[in-house]
Amino acid sequence: MAKLKTNFVCQSCGNVTPKWQGRCEACGAWNSIIEDGGAAGIGAQQARGAKKGRIFALGELAHADAPQTRLETGIGELDRVTGGGFVPGSVLLLGGEPGIGKSTLLIQACAALALRGERVVYISGEEAMDQVRLRATRLGLAAAPVELAAETGVEDIVATLSQGKRPALVVIDSIQTMWTDAVESSPGTVTQVRGSAQALIRFAKTSGAIVILVGHVTKDGQIAGPRVVEHMVDAVISFEGEGGRDFRILRAVKNRFGPTDEIGVFEMTGGGLSEVANPSALFLTAHEDATPGVAVFAGMEGTRPLLVEIQALVAPTSLGTPRRAVVGWDTSRLAMVVAVLEAHAGLKLGQHDIYLTIAGGLRVSEPAADLAAAAALVSSLSGQALSTNAVYFGEVGLSGAVRPVAHAAARLKEAAKLGFTAAVAPRGAQSGESGGEAITATSCEHIGALVAEIARPKDGAPAKAANGKSKQHVDGW
Ligand code: TYD
Ligand code: MG
Repeated sequence: MAKLKTNFVCQSCGNVTPKWQGRCEACGAWNSIIEDGGAAGIGAQQARGAKKGRIFALGELAHADAPQTRLETGIGELDRVTGGGFVPGSVLLLGGEPGIGKSTLLIQACAALALRGERVVYISGEEAMDQVRLRATRLGLAAAPVELAAETGVEDIVATLSQGKRPALVVIDSIQTMWTDAVESSPGTVTQVRGSAQALIRFAKTSGAIVILVGHVTKDGQIAGPRVVEHMVDAVISFEGEGGRDFRILRAVKNRFGPTDEIGVFEMTGGGLSEVANPSALFLTAHEDATPGVAVFAGMEGTRPLLVEIQALVAPTSLGTPRRAVVGWDTSRLAMVVAVLEAHAGLKLGQHDIYLTIAGGLRVSEPAADLAAAAALVSSLSGQALSTNAVYFGEVGLSGAVRPVAHAAARLKEAAKLGFTAAVAPRGAQSGESGGEAITATSCEHIGALVAEIARPKDGAPAKAANGKSKQHVDGW
């Protein structure tokens, strides 16, 4: 037998080199390369010779015994993110930081499906069976007929799963703990993770079972080690949350069978994860008084409108170079909005520190947030609070023009539903009624008009702001 060639594999990106190096050429990580036994199977596969395959017509394809319909868990927020349920034979990677609630979510999904009579297998490589059972009991799901196993050998798992009825869903918690005989490196290495994932994906594709792989994510947001797994699976779903807050956001990063812009919102409670049916209420802070620097953005996440609060703080700087800090929004987008405000609305922000955050730990990537961000910045700079009854949306162009955005009607409807009575929006957004609640949309065509309106002295009782400037409420638009 030919001598097995050893390779050196980077543990952070999976790049293979013939010799050891201190720094990976591919991803630049230091000290990430370790020696790794080559894959035993490769030589054998090459020796086997080529075999003729069969080519099918597109319409002819149908899996022998797999159901062709998507499998819905009944957990609405989860089904929304997968694009309306799991596709039979697909493999999903669920990533998230340790402790975020991945195991909890999956045991709840497993129980829901098992209670509907599907064969569901939950394989834990991290927790003992008793721990999994204890958690299920705490969640009130102990009666669900979910099959449990504590196992880490992929060959054993596949052999066990191949017995009996084809499972509808198999959960592997987590892929980092799995190992396969096919590769000769120690468990937890990139090669092992990749080899194990390959074997499980093959199982899913041949049997038609849905396989969910749990992957831990490091603090910098990468699915630890197995970035290499991301392109092998059909969908990558990340489970995120903010430290200290109880809500969790499920987001599709990649989805071969559905959209990637939908989010699912959950709340971690004593009884497990519960769905949040009205996420807008979660991301809005209840303010008694109007505060300068706060604007409510009528946004969209996928097909669902979502209202979020944008907070800005603009203060004179004591540094040579003013600070610009952004949480939950794009730094270059802020730089653009600031530049437009300076160029087209005459604002002087060069001597001011600017801080901008999206409340509630949400990440906003829509250009439609420009107008709301601009309103928050102008409001903070001028000390003039915006009306607590108004929402903002619209894309700001480099010329200062406010451009229309998609789904204006849905945004207005959501705002009306939550009790907002005014909206500052691009031209074309229709005022309307939703369930008896009326909302008045005022079109704002240029950023200069927005600034003039916010800074305009208003009628009504003036209030003193903390910085000594006079502060007044803006009563609608
Ligand atoms: P877990 O699902 O074990 O996280 P992961 O698998 O992503 O590592 O969730 C662990 C956290 O969830 C833990 O901090 C406790 C909390 N939790 C609750 O608040 N309520 C519950 O009912 C359960 C089961 C967990
Ligand atoms: Mg877990």
